[in-house]
Amino acid sequence: MLLKKFRSYKRWMLEVQERLAHIEKKVDKVLERNEQQEKIYAKQIADQKKILGYLSNNGFEVINSVNKKEYLSAYPDSFLKGKHQAYERNCAYFIGRNKENNIKDYSRLLSFTLNIEKILADGIDGAFAELGVYKGSNAAFMVRYANDTKRKMYLIDTFEGFDEQDLQGVDSQHEVKFTDTSIRAVKDYCGESENTKYIKGYFPDSITEELFNERFAFVSLDCDLYNPIMAGLEFFWDRMNKGGMIFIHDYSSGYYEGCTLAVDEFCKNNMINVVLMPDKSGTAVLVK
Ligand SMILES: C[S@@+](CC[C@H](N)C(=O)[O-])C[C@H]1O[C@@H](n2cnc3c(N)ncnc32)[C@H](O)[C@@H]1O
Repeated sequence: MLLKKFRSYKRWMLEVQERLAHIEKKVDKVLERNEQQEKIYAKQIADQKKILGYLSNNGFEVINSVNKKEYLSAYPDSFLKGKHQAYERNCAYFIGRNKENNIKDYSRLLSFTLNIEKILADGIDGAFAELGVYKGSNAAFMVRYANDTKRKMYLIDTFEGFDEQDLQGVDSQHEVKFTDTSIRAVKDYCGESENTKYIKGYFPDSITEELFNERFAFVSLDCDLYNPIMAGLEFFWDRMNKGGMIFIHDYSSGYYEGCTLAVDEFCKNNMINVVLMPDKSGTAVLVK
Protein backbone atom coordinates (compact mmCIF):
# COMPACT_ATOMS: atom_id res chain seq x y z
CA MET A 1 0.00 0.00 0.00
CA LEU A 2 2.76 2.38 1.05
CA LEU A 3 4.77 1.38 -2.01
CA LYS A 4 1.78 2.15 -4.29
CA LYS A 5 1.41 5.61 -2.73
CA PHE A 6 5.13 6.21 -3.10
CA ARG A 7 4.98 5.26 -6.84
CA SER A 8 2.05 7.54 -7.52
CA TYR A 9 3.84 10.38 -5.68
CA LYS A 10 6.96 9.76 -7.79
CA ARG A 11 4.88 9.82 -11.00
CA TRP A 12 3.35 13.13 -9.89
CA MET A 13 6.82 14.50 -9.14
CA LEU A 14 8.01 13.52 -12.64
CA GLU A 15 4.98 15.18 -14.21
CA VAL A 16 5.63 18.39 -12.22
CA GLN A 17 9.28 18.30 -13.30
CA GLU A 18 8.25 17.90 -16.93
CA ARG A 19 5.81 20.81 -16.66
CA LEU A 20 8.47 22.94 -15.00
CA ALA A 21 10.95 22.14 -17.76
CA HIS A 22 8.29 23.07 -20.33
CA ILE A 23 7.60 26.41 -18.56
CA GLU A 24 11.34 27.07 -18.29
CA LYS A 25 11.70 26.59 -22.05
CA LYS A 26 8.84 29.05 -22.64
CA VAL A 27 10.41 31.60 -20.28
CA ASP A 28 13.76 31.20 -22.08
CA LYS A 29 12.05 31.89 -25.40
CA VAL A 30 10.41 35.07 -24.01
CA LEU A 31 13.74 36.24 -22.58
CA GLU A 32 15.46 35.53 -25.89
CA ARG A 33 12.82 37.55 -27.70
CA ASN A 34 13.24 40.41 -25.19
CA GLU A 35 16.97 40.28 -25.73
CA GLN A 36 16.43 40.62 -29.47
CA GLN A 37 14.00 43.48 -28.87
CA GLU A 38 16.52 45.14 -26.57
CA LYS A 39 19.16 44.85 -29.26
CA ILE A 40 16.76 46.53 -31.71
CA TYR A 41 16.06 49.33 -29.19
CA ALA A 42 19.79 49.73 -28.53
CA LYS A 43 20.39 50.08 -32.27
CA GLN A 44 17.61 52.65 -32.58
CA ILE A 45 19.06 54.65 -29.67
CA ALA A 46 22.56 54.42 -31.20
CA ASP A 47 21.16 55.67 -34.52
CA GLN A 48 19.47 58.60 -32.77
CA LYS A 49 22.70 59.42 -30.94
CA LYS A 50 24.59 59.24 -34.21
CA ILE A 51 22.12 61.72 -35.68
CA LEU A 52 22.45 64.03 -32.66
CA GLY A 53 26.23 63.80 -32.92
CA TYR A 54 25.85 64.45 -36.60
CA LEU A 55 23.78 67.53 -35.80
CA SER A 56 26.44 68.99 -33.58
CA ASN A 57 29.11 67.98 -36.09
CA ASN A 58 27.31 70.10 -38.62
CA GLY A 59 26.84 72.96 -36.22
CA PHE A 60 23.05 72.93 -36.00
CA GLU A 61 21.59 74.47 -32.85
CA VAL A 62 18.51 72.93 -31.28
CA ILE A 63 18.10 75.56 -28.55
CA ASN A 64 17.06 79.13 -29.31
CA SER A 65 19.61 81.23 -27.44
CA VAL A 66 17.16 84.14 -27.08
CA ASN A 67 14.14 82.48 -25.47
CA LYS A 68 15.77 79.14 -24.52
CA LYS A 69 13.06 77.24 -26.33
CA GLU A 70 13.94 74.20 -28.35
CA TYR A 71 13.64 74.17 -32.10
CA LEU A 72 12.15 71.00 -33.56
CA SER A 73 14.75 68.33 -33.02
CA ALA A 74 13.33 65.15 -34.50
CA TYR A 75 14.18 63.57 -37.81
CA PRO A 76 11.49 61.88 -39.89
CA ASP A 77 12.04 58.08 -39.85
CA SER A 78 12.93 58.04 -43.54
CA PHE A 79 16.05 60.09 -42.73
CA LEU A 80 17.10 57.57 -40.05
CA LYS A 81 16.64 54.78 -42.56
CA GLY A 82 19.05 56.53 -44.91
CA LYS A 83 16.45 57.20 -47.61
CA HIS A 84 17.71 60.73 -48.32
CA GLN A 85 21.26 60.24 -49.47
CA ALA A 86 21.66 63.88 -50.56
CA TYR A 87 20.82 65.23 -47.10
CA GLU A 88 24.42 65.48 -45.90
CA ARG A 89 25.35 67.40 -49.02
CA ASN A 90 22.33 69.69 -48.52
CA CYS A 91 23.38 70.32 -44.89
CA ALA A 92 26.85 71.38 -45.88
CA TYR A 93 25.56 73.90 -48.44
CA PHE A 94 22.72 75.12 -46.22
CA ILE A 95 24.94 76.13 -43.33
CA GLY A 96 27.97 77.00 -45.44
CA ARG A 97 26.62 80.55 -45.85
CA ASN A 98 24.15 82.64 -43.78
CA LYS A 99 25.14 80.32 -40.93
CA GLU A 100 23.88 82.58 -38.15
CA ASN A 101 20.29 82.04 -39.23
CA ASN A 102 20.43 78.60 -40.79
CA ILE A 103 22.04 76.68 -37.93
CA LYS A 104 18.73 77.05 -36.07
CA ASP A 105 16.59 75.89 -38.93
CA TYR A 106 17.29 72.32 -39.94
CA SER A 107 13.55 71.57 -39.99
CA ARG A 108 13.38 73.90 -42.99
CA LEU A 109 16.09 71.90 -44.70
CA LEU A 110 14.22 68.66 -43.94
CA SER A 111 11.10 70.07 -45.64
CA PHE A 112 13.07 71.17 -48.68
CA THR A 113 14.78 67.79 -48.93
CA LEU A 114 11.55 65.79 -48.54
CA ASN A 115 9.57 67.87 -51.01
CA ILE A 116 12.20 68.35 -53.72
CA GLU A 117 12.84 64.61 -53.64
CA LYS A 118 9.07 64.00 -53.83
CA ILE A 119 8.88 66.18 -56.95
CA LEU A 120 11.76 64.25 -58.50
CA ALA A 121 10.23 60.89 -57.52
CA ASP A 122 6.87 61.91 -59.01
CA GLY A 123 8.57 62.95 -62.23
CA ILE A 124 7.22 66.53 -62.17
CA ASP A 125 8.79 68.34 -65.12
CA GLY A 126 10.08 71.88 -65.03
CA ALA A 127 12.85 74.14 -63.88
CA PHE A 128 13.77 75.12 -60.31
CA ALA A 129 14.04 78.74 -59.20
CA GLU A 130 14.79 80.81 -56.15
CA LEU A 131 13.78 84.47 -55.89
CA GLY A 132 15.81 85.87 -53.00
CA VAL A 133 19.17 84.10 -53.10
CA TYR A 134 21.38 86.33 -50.91
CA LYS A 135 24.62 84.29 -50.46
CA GLY A 136 23.17 81.11 -51.95
CA SER A 137 22.70 78.78 -48.94
CA ASN A 138 19.45 77.38 -50.28
CA ALA A 139 20.13 77.84 -53.94
CA ALA A 140 23.39 75.87 -53.72
CA PHE A 141 21.72 72.56 -52.87
CA MET A 142 18.80 73.27 -55.22
CA VAL A 143 21.37 73.69 -58.01
CA ARG A 144 22.80 70.24 -57.18
CA TYR A 145 19.39 68.56 -57.49
CA ALA A 146 18.76 70.46 -60.75
CA ASN A 147 22.14 69.37 -62.15
CA ASP A 148 21.52 65.76 -61.09
CA THR A 149 18.26 65.73 -63.05
CA LYS A 150 19.47 67.88 -65.95
CA ARG A 151 17.03 70.73 -65.42
CA LYS A 152 17.51 74.47 -65.23
CA MET A 153 17.84 76.39 -61.99
CA TYR A 154 17.27 80.15 -61.92
CA LEU A 155 18.93 82.23 -59.18
CA ILE A 156 17.15 85.60 -59.06
CA ASP A 157 18.22 88.51 -56.87
CA THR A 158 19.42 92.09 -56.93
CA PHE A 159 22.57 90.58 -55.36
CA GLU A 160 22.73 93.98 -53.66
CA GLY A 161 20.03 93.53 -51.00
CA PHE A 162 16.55 95.04 -50.64
CA ASP A 163 15.57 97.79 -53.04
CA GLU A 164 14.39 101.09 -51.46
CA GLN A 165 11.24 101.07 -53.59
CA ASP A 166 9.99 97.95 -51.74
CA LEU A 167 10.35 99.55 -48.31
CA GLN A 168 6.94 101.19 -48.26
CA GLY A 169 3.42 100.53 -46.91
CA VAL A 170 3.38 97.42 -44.71
CA ASP A 171 7.19 97.18 -45.11
CA SER A 172 8.02 100.83 -44.36
CA GLN A 173 9.60 99.97 -40.98
CA HIS A 174 12.27 97.76 -42.60
CA GLU A 175 15.69 98.95 -43.74
CA VAL A 176 17.90 97.95 -46.64
CA LYS A 177 19.48 94.58 -45.73
CA PHE A 178 21.42 91.73 -47.35
CA THR A 179 23.87 94.02 -49.16
CA ASP A 180 26.91 91.96 -48.06
CA THR A 181 26.83 89.66 -51.08
CA SER A 182 27.68 89.75 -54.78
CA ILE A 183 26.81 87.79 -57.88
CA ARG A 184 30.48 86.77 -58.19
CA ALA A 185 30.55 85.30 -54.66
CA VAL A 186 27.27 83.43 -55.27
CA LYS A 187 28.53 82.03 -58.58
CA ASP A 188 31.64 80.77 -56.81
CA TYR A 189 29.51 79.10 -54.12
CA CYS A 190 26.66 77.68 -56.23
CA GLY A 191 28.65 76.94 -59.38
CA GLU A 192 28.28 77.86 -63.02
CA SER A 193 26.95 75.73 -65.85
CA GLU A 194 24.80 76.03 -68.95
CA ASN A 195 21.73 75.14 -66.86
CA THR A 196 22.46 77.45 -63.93
CA LYS A 197 20.92 80.83 -64.78
CA TYR A 198 21.73 83.95 -62.78
CA ILE A 199 19.28 86.86 -63.11
CA LYS A 200 20.58 90.00 -61.46
CA GLY A 201 18.39 93.04 -60.86
CA TYR A 202 15.16 94.25 -59.36
CA PHE A 203 12.38 91.66 -59.65
CA PRO A 204 9.98 91.77 -61.56
CA ASP A 205 11.80 94.26 -63.87
CA SER A 206 14.62 91.72 -64.24
CA ILE A 207 12.46 89.01 -65.88
CA THR A 208 14.21 87.76 -69.02
CA GLU A 209 12.56 86.27 -72.09
CA GLU A 210 13.88 82.84 -71.16
CA LEU A 211 12.43 83.08 -67.64
CA PHE A 212 9.14 84.42 -69.02
CA ASN A 213 8.73 81.35 -71.25
CA GLU A 214 9.77 78.80 -68.59
CA ARG A 215 7.70 76.14 -66.76
CA PHE A 216 8.56 75.27 -63.16
CA ALA A 217 8.50 72.28 -60.80
CA PHE A 218 9.88 73.84 -57.61
CA VAL A 219 10.23 77.51 -56.63
CA SER A 220 11.55 79.08 -53.44
CA LEU A 221 10.34 82.62 -52.72
CA ASP A 222 12.60 84.08 -50.06
CA CYS A 223 12.51 87.81 -50.68
CA ASP A 224 10.76 88.82 -47.43
CA LEU A 225 8.79 91.88 -48.55
CA TYR A 226 5.26 92.41 -49.90
CA ASN A 227 6.20 93.70 -53.38
CA PRO A 228 8.63 90.99 -54.51
CA ILE A 229 6.63 88.19 -52.82
CA MET A 230 3.43 89.31 -54.58
CA ALA A 231 5.29 89.78 -57.87
CA GLY A 232 6.84 86.31 -57.43
CA LEU A 233 3.48 84.66 -56.78
CA GLU A 234 1.87 86.40 -59.74
CA PHE A 235 4.71 85.41 -62.01
CA PHE A 236 5.39 81.83 -60.93
CA TRP A 237 1.97 80.42 -60.01
CA ASP A 238 0.67 80.36 -63.60
CA ARG A 239 3.95 78.81 -64.75
CA MET A 240 3.98 75.92 -62.24
CA ASN A 241 3.42 72.44 -63.64
CA LYS A 242 0.79 70.27 -61.94
CA GLY A 243 2.23 68.86 -58.71
CA GLY A 244 4.85 71.63 -58.59
CA MET A 245 5.41 73.52 -55.35
CA ILE A 246 6.16 77.08 -54.26
CA PHE A 247 7.87 77.42 -50.86
CA ILE A 248 7.42 80.90 -49.36
CA HIS A 249 9.77 81.60 -46.51
CA ASP A 250 8.85 83.87 -43.53
CA TYR A 251 5.07 83.48 -43.77
CA SER A 252 4.80 82.77 -40.01
CA SER A 253 7.86 84.75 -38.91
CA GLY A 254 5.74 87.51 -37.38
CA TYR A 255 8.51 89.81 -38.59
CA TYR A 256 7.94 90.15 -42.32
CA GLU A 257 4.25 91.03 -42.26
CA GLY A 258 4.36 92.05 -45.92
CA CYS A 259 5.15 88.45 -46.83
CA THR A 260 2.15 87.11 -44.89
CA LEU A 261 -0.12 89.77 -46.38
CA ALA A 262 0.99 89.08 -49.95
CA VAL A 263 0.41 85.32 -49.57
CA ASP A 264 -3.01 85.81 -47.93
CA GLU A 265 -4.17 88.26 -50.61
CA PHE A 266 -2.88 86.17 -53.47
CA CYS A 267 -4.41 82.95 -52.14
CA LYS A 268 -7.76 84.61 -51.43
CA ASN A 269 -7.95 86.23 -54.87
CA ASN A 270 -7.02 82.99 -56.63
CA MET A 271 -8.88 80.56 -54.33
CA ILE A 272 -5.68 78.67 -53.44
CA ASN A 273 -5.15 76.80 -50.16
CA VAL A 274 -1.89 77.05 -48.32
CA VAL A 275 -0.02 74.52 -46.12
CA LEU A 276 2.09 75.94 -43.26
CA MET A 277 5.34 74.35 -42.10
CA PRO A 278 6.65 74.49 -38.50
CA ASP A 279 10.18 75.63 -39.38
CA LYS A 280 11.92 78.56 -37.74
CA SER A 281 10.44 81.37 -39.82
CA GLY A 282 7.32 79.51 -40.86
CA THR A 283 7.37 78.53 -44.52
CA ALA A 284 4.08 78.49 -46.45
CA VAL A 285 3.67 75.98 -49.26
CA LEU A 286 1.45 76.17 -52.35
CA VAL A 287 0.98 73.02 -54.41
CA LYS A 288 -0.28 73.40 -57.99
C1 LIG B 1 16.45 86.58 -46.77
S1 LIG B 1 17.42 86.92 -48.13
C2 LIG B 1 17.43 85.39 -48.97
C3 LIG B 1 18.10 84.27 -48.21
C4 LIG B 1 18.47 83.08 -49.05
N1 LIG B 1 17.34 82.42 -49.65
C5 LIG B 1 19.34 82.08 -48.32
O1 LIG B 1 19.25 80.89 -48.64
O2 LIG B 1 20.11 82.44 -47.45
C6 LIG B 1 16.36 87.94 -49.10
C7 LIG B 1 16.90 88.27 -50.47
O3 LIG B 1 15.84 88.79 -51.27
C8 LIG B 1 16.38 89.71 -52.19
N2 LIG B 1 15.32 90.59 -52.70
C9 LIG B 1 14.39 91.23 -51.97
N3 LIG B 1 13.62 91.98 -52.77
C10 LIG B 1 14.04 91.78 -54.04
C11 LIG B 1 13.60 92.25 -55.31
N4 LIG B 1 12.55 93.08 -55.47
N5 LIG B 1 14.28 91.83 -56.40
C12 LIG B 1 15.31 90.98 -56.31
N6 LIG B 1 15.76 90.49 -55.13
C13 LIG B 1 15.13 90.89 -54.00
C14 LIG B 1 17.44 90.44 -51.36
O4 LIG B 1 18.40 91.03 -52.18
C15 LIG B 1 18.00 89.31 -50.49
O5 LIG B 1 19.18 88.78 -51.03
